[in-house]
Amino acid sequence: MASVLRKLDAAEARAAIPVLADMIVDAVANGASVNFLAGLTQADAAAFWQGQMDGIEAGGRVLVVAELDGRIVGTVVVTHAPQPNAPHRAEIGKMLVHSSARRRGFGRQLLAAAEAVAREAGKTLLHLDTQTGSAGEALYRATGWTEMGVMPDHALTPDRRLAATTFFYKAI
Ligand SMILES: CC(C)(COP(=O)(O)OP(=O)(O)OC[C@H]1O[C@@H](n2cnc3c(N)ncnc32)[C@H](O)[C@@H]1OP(=O)(O)O)[C@@H](O)C(=O)NCCC(=O)NCCS
Repeated sequence: MASVLRKLDAAEARAAIPVLADMIVDAVANGASVNFLAGLTQADAAAFWQGQMDGIEAGGRVLVVAELDGRIVGTVVVTHAPQPNAPHRAEIGKMLVHSSARRRGFGRQLLAAAEAVAREAGKTLLHLDTQTGSAGEALYRATGWTEMGVMPDHALTPDRRLAATTFFYKAI
């Protein structure tokens, strides 16, 4: 099976919106806390990605995908901080690997690609957050991120329980 990691340009990203939406629906259906609640529709997930497209077009966001045999199985988004005093900083988001492709190294590879993209853009500091106790937290601990702290009751899980969020940063 052939896998590849690549940046999608705006046209490719727009064309991939239905598949990108499926990625979020899959993550939420499997209990991941990624800003959405259970029952998320494909249309709502597509609307989220639609909202990312102007940023991708303008270059303030970079979308990297992992493909397996030509099918997108992973995503990560690097968002440059918009503030004039933070030209060195970016946030990592939508770090998703399809439930059918987990624990095969795609998460680790996507994060490394996101770091490379950020470095190429001159960024030296990355940050992200994830539900405390999640697979994401384990991934970030395994890849050299530093915990900043835990905020109790920060967000609802898909099944609407308040849960803590762990905040991480990484100097690159
Ligand atoms: C988090 C996520 C992206 C990990 O992707 P993945 O492709 O399975 O991760 P990898 O195979 O690259 O794992 C790399 C390392 O991270 C850690 N890890 C990843 N998933 C883990 C899990 N479920 N439990 C414990 N450790 C885990 C391990 O140390 C793993 O190394 P190993 O497999 O050699 O033990 C994936 O589980 C996912 O999409 N989850 C739902 C969405 C989500 O929660 N995203 C994070 C939001 S911030």
